[in-house]
Amino acid sequence: RMSVIEEFAGIQLPGHLHTPESLQYAQNFKFKEGDVLIVTYPKSGTTWMQEILTLIYSQGDTEIAMTIPNWERAPWLEHTYFKVTLKEGEGPRIITTHLPSSVLAPALQNSKAKVIYVARNPKDVAVSFYHFHKMAKFLPEISSFSEFLELFLKGKVCYGSWFDHVQGWYRQKNNLDFFCITYEDLQKDLRRSIKKLCGFLGCPMYSEEVDKVEQHCRFPVMSQNVMVNYMLIPKEIMNHDQSKFMRKGVVGDWKEHMTQEQSDAFDKIFQEKMSGCYLQFLWNL
Ligand code: PPS
Repeated sequence: RMSVIEEFAGIQLPGHLHTPESLQYAQNFKFKEGDVLIVTYPKSGTTWMQEILTLIYSQGDTEIAMTIPNWERAPWLEHTYFKVTLKEGEGPRIITTHLPSSVLAPALQNSKAKVIYVARNPKDVAVSFYHFHKMAKFLPEISSFSEFLELFLKGKVCYGSWFDHVQGWYRQKNNLDFFCITYEDLQKDLRRSIKKLCGFLGCPMYSEEVDKVEQHCRFPVMSQNVMVNYMLIPKEIMNHDQSKFMRKGVVGDWKEHMTQEQSDAFDKIFQEKMSGCYLQFLWNL
């Protein structure tokens, strides 16, 4: 297992692809008008949004989505390869990040970049993140789901507390050119979500083009696309025998993992920590 960066902006980060230099570069990054930043806590719909935006900007043409890996067309701001990967030239730059608002909000407030925040109900995030720890060799080894759940609720996992991430970014909604959507919104009505995104991005589309985006971004199709399903990553870094990156893609899988007791304890902490946040989450569909 690879090492972890113990402290950056109050949170732990994987040592893989993150260095003090890359994090500093991210913190001081100059956003420009036209930039679109996808912001997520891990396992909340990052890859899905990367694919949707790629397809919206190509007016439904799947060529780019089928030939260029997601980390190249929507690179992570905090990763070591970001500087050399970022697309310059024509069209908007799609940038991805898991960093907390405390690190990025100041630079964003002074820019005209657009921010798309994707949030997912935290019970499903915990389950997805747990399975990801089994396959991702750059994350600490976890012995059981209950062990992971405890760490998750305390915020003692890579990328920090889900509660702080969501609250922190959501509080920025009036300070930024901000669009918030949930994973469950995407699940419930993908077409409507795509149209709303087009509105936010100022990128009108014909109905047939929306059809193409919608078709391409469905789980059964996307999970077969090697440019987004992480099958291109060597086994030493992501072991697909343990769990698939595109694992289930459903709402409510937490019910298959949590006991009643764990779920009740989760609800209690959720209520405490999310008071004053008007974001609504769907726990099942
Ligand atoms: S990461 O590692 O932070 O980039 O992961 P992220 O992409 O945010 O989250 C991965 C989960 O999203 C699911 N996923 C999808 N669900 C439905 N439809 C589509 N098209 C889709 N694409 C990705 C993926 O399966 C992971 O969730 P789980 O619950 O583990 O299946």
